[in-house]
Amino acid sequence: MNETVVSGDQNAALDMNQRARDILITNDLGGYTVPNKNVYPFQWNWDSAFVALGFAEFDIDRAWKEIETLFDGQWKDGFVPQIIFWQESDSYFPGPDVWNTGKKPQTSGITQPPVAASMVRQIWQKDKSDAARGNLERIFPKIMAWHRWFDKYRDPLRKGLVVATHPWETGRDNAPEWDEPAASVDISGIEPYERRDTLHLDKKMRPHKEDYDRFVAMVEYGRTQNWDHNAIATEGPFRVVDVGMTMMLIRANKDMLALANEFGFEKEAVEIRSWIDRAQNGINFLWDEKIGAFCSKDLISGQSSGIISSATFLCYYAGVGSEAQRASTVNHLERIAATTEFLMPSLSPDNPRFDAMRYWRGPVWAVVNYMVSKGCREVGLADLSERIKLDTAMLMRQSGFFEAFNPETGEGTGGEDFSWTAAMWLHWAGK
Ligand code: GLC
Repeated sequence: MNETVVSGDQNAALDMNQRARDILITNDLGGYTVPNKNVYPFQWNWDSAFVALGFAEFDIDRAWKEIETLFDGQWKDGFVPQIIFWQESDSYFPGPDVWNTGKKPQTSGITQPPVAASMVRQIWQKDKSDAARGNLERIFPKIMAWHRWFDKYRDPLRKGLVVATHPWETGRDNAPEWDEPAASVDISGIEPYERRDTLHLDKKMRPHKEDYDRFVAMVEYGRTQNWDHNAIATEGPFRVVDVGMTMMLIRANKDMLALANEFGFEKEAVEIRSWIDRAQNGINFLWDEKIGAFCSKDLISGQSSGIISSATFLCYYAGVGSEAQRASTVNHLERIAATTEFLMPSLSPDNPRFDAMRYWRGPVWAVVNYMVSKGCREVGLADLSERIKLDTAMLMRQSGFFEAFNPETGEGTGGEDFSWTAAMWLHWAGK
């Protein structure tokens, strides 16, 4: 094509691509990428997995490197932490001293949604060079070890579901699903602390103080248990089966199975298959008949959250549920689509706790949209899948690469120049 006839739209897209790349490059602190320089100055688990997809669009070696550094923080028992504190920074609380996990590199003591396997499979599918084969063969056993850790420590019901022991593990920090379960966490003895997030960001976009007090109390509890994950998951003050982590793990295991088959890892394939079978049989534990959807469930009280969040719609991505269950959840999705300017709000807007600017209680998150849209496409909901993708792209064009977005106005919320948002543009929404 003659360069002089590049249209305005194409120019705008080129500009967006360049800006997205620049964000990743700027937030790259040397082998790992911070989610955002001010608010989150360390390596975060699921952020890095998504960020690797963004790098894979222009620097495939750097994509593998991101995954490698994430697994450099893995503990001997397979656990992969939520945060790796590669360098010091006082702009985030709680820092390594508060966690006190005693690991090198220093890490937090909780995990995050296990999406790495799924992103690794995407990177592999993009480039199957010999170098990539070597990378995959090195990383596969590490991911296996992490998934075995979930099986061993986080599935006390033996149903293939994931118990979260801290709201931060779910990646959806202040989602209303955690309100009731966290309400009984004792905050009377917590040490005085100073939040850093509200120094960088408007309070109305961030979790409330009482949420934060509970977050801190749960960290202090883990620390007093010396991060004994068995004790924390069987006796801890917060034990909730998270519909989001569960769906993402099922999907990750399906991606692992595909890789195991392709690489001829036969023993592993048998093991992974057993996890998938268990989860497919066990998933109805999360089905809330009254609501007609999969919902998170408190293991301590036995109560379903009864909440429709964006994580509810990860059931397609996981590929679970009967025909009737699908019809019921699609009804919910269509209802939300009909009344919401930009999909997918993190909480159904008809919920009284919906708050369009407050983090996981309303705003749209690009990474969740990516997974929900992909799942919709795979189960034949092509229109919804496309709508989610177009809405995501529109949000970024309109407001930039924010951490999240107001589903009613499209306004950005949280931090700016966010790595995983930029990565989602490069890998998906911008295409
Ligand atoms: C917040 C988000 C979490 C994310 C982290 C870094 O804690 O809730 O999902 O991993 O920020 O971006």
